[in-house]
Amino acid sequence: MHHFAYKGGELYAEKVSLERIAEAVGTPFYCYSTATIERHYKVLAQAFKGLDPLICYAVKANSNQAVLTTLARLGAGMDVVSEGEIRRALTAGVKPDKIIFAGVGKTRGEIAFALRHGVCQFNVESDQEIDFISEIATHLGARAKVALRINPDVDAKTHKKIATGKGEAKFGIPYKDAMRLYAKADRLAGIDVNGVHMHIGSQLTDLAPVEKAFTLMRQLVVRLRAEGHDIGHVDLGGGLGVPYKAGSEIPPHPDDYAQIVRKCFAGLDVKLMLEPGRLIVANAGILVSRVIAVKKGSERTFVVVDAAMNDLIRPTLYEAHHEIWPASEKRKGNNVLVDVVGPICETGDYLALGRKLPPLAAEDLIAVMSAGAYGAVQAGTYNSRPLVPEVLVRGDQFAVVRQRQTYDELIGLDRLAPWQTASQQPSPNPERAPPPAVKPPARKPEAASAGAGAGAATKRPSGGRR
Ligand SMILES: Cc1ncc(COP(=O)(O)O)c(C=O)c1O
Repeated sequence: MHHFAYKGGELYAEKVSLERIAEAVGTPFYCYSTATIERHYKVLAQAFKGLDPLICYAVKANSNQAVLTTLARLGAGMDVVSEGEIRRALTAGVKPDKIIFAGVGKTRGEIAFALRHGVCQFNVESDQEIDFISEIATHLGARAKVALRINPDVDAKTHKKIATGKGEAKFGIPYKDAMRLYAKADRLAGIDVNGVHMHIGSQLTDLAPVEKAFTLMRQLVVRLRAEGHDIGHVDLGGGLGVPYKAGSEIPPHPDDYAQIVRKCFAGLDVKLMLEPGRLIVANAGILVSRVIAVKKGSERTFVVVDAAMNDLIRPTLYEAHHEIWPASEKRKGNNVLVDVVGPICETGDYLALGRKLPPLAAEDLIAVMSAGAYGAVQAGTYNSRPLVPEVLVRGDQFAVVRQRQTYDELIGLDRLAPWQTASQQPSPNPERAPPPAVKPPARKPEAASAGAGAGAATKRPSGGRR
């Protein structure tokens, strides 16, 4: 359930029309609904009522500070996978004792940073990593609370690029090695072993593998306790799927998921931890884009829009389906078969293939639905396209919560090598002028904000994408 809906024929995010936001900030832009984020968090918390889990939102899904702050204010902890994400969580006001540090390749620098800030748990992914954490903790005079991430070799029945619980995946410690590594971890200086962690994949739509993994997890906790390990925490990971496609099967409700958790861990007396990402933000965000042109190829019709795979990689990377909604219902009816593509020089640059959509025309606004998770966070600047802005809506207010990247910012990080600058250039041929230093084009003044409560407007400078 989300708060994007048509009112009077126009598509709204809560009480703000998308056309109004587009006027103020230009296109493309990401748009997030506060009410939807809050609702998803509360539905999950409600499903686990009585179990009192620590819900650590998976920052990787959407790390915008405004999104993190929304969740932090609801009491969420955070699951992070890099120093950057630890910094983001702390900046959003999350206390270190609610931050879980996961990730398959934590560097020594990141481990030290996490220890200095006192994160509540390291989810350890390898034999070597436990040694690193022990060494660094000892050096710093700190103690690291540790859970081992166990790979149960369970097929999560999801897309291969987001399946993490099979034996062939790079994630976690093989189930068969768990007892040995717990015994080792217990002997190491600076380490307090306190938990077990598993995460078998993302966009899980079948609870059977989840139950299988949780059952293995319970057995492991029982065995570890029998060996004298003090296991007080069970971190169940994230992964619960969301509906992306109209008319397709609805993924399990958090209540059904919680029911399995209650069954699998009944009577175990552990503190449960959850790491939901997609479930909280996927359907709370959309990518809004304008049609540049409609082009009839010899075999297909292409709706060329100003958003592309660099803004939203999911269709290209995971063959992901995102519903496309026109921002105006005037365009409804007499659907035509089209591919919705971006301007990038790749055949793989598309947002939707073979989709029956209302007839669209240049300048029409469209919304790419369910783009709140793994959308903006995976954006890049391929083809020298600036990162697009992110907008947060709350009721009848909206604000730019990430500015559109300027061309100055995009180009300004580059430097010429010393030998390319005028002062260093030996001029063998005085007739030929040395190449000029890189200087970004002058920025056009940006339009003033028109939004109620909007931040500084970030309309695309003319000459770029609108
Ligand atoms: C260890 C871990 N926890 C939590 C998540 C969040 O998963 P999701 O967004 O599917 O809930 C991921 C995502 O890959 C993950 O790797």
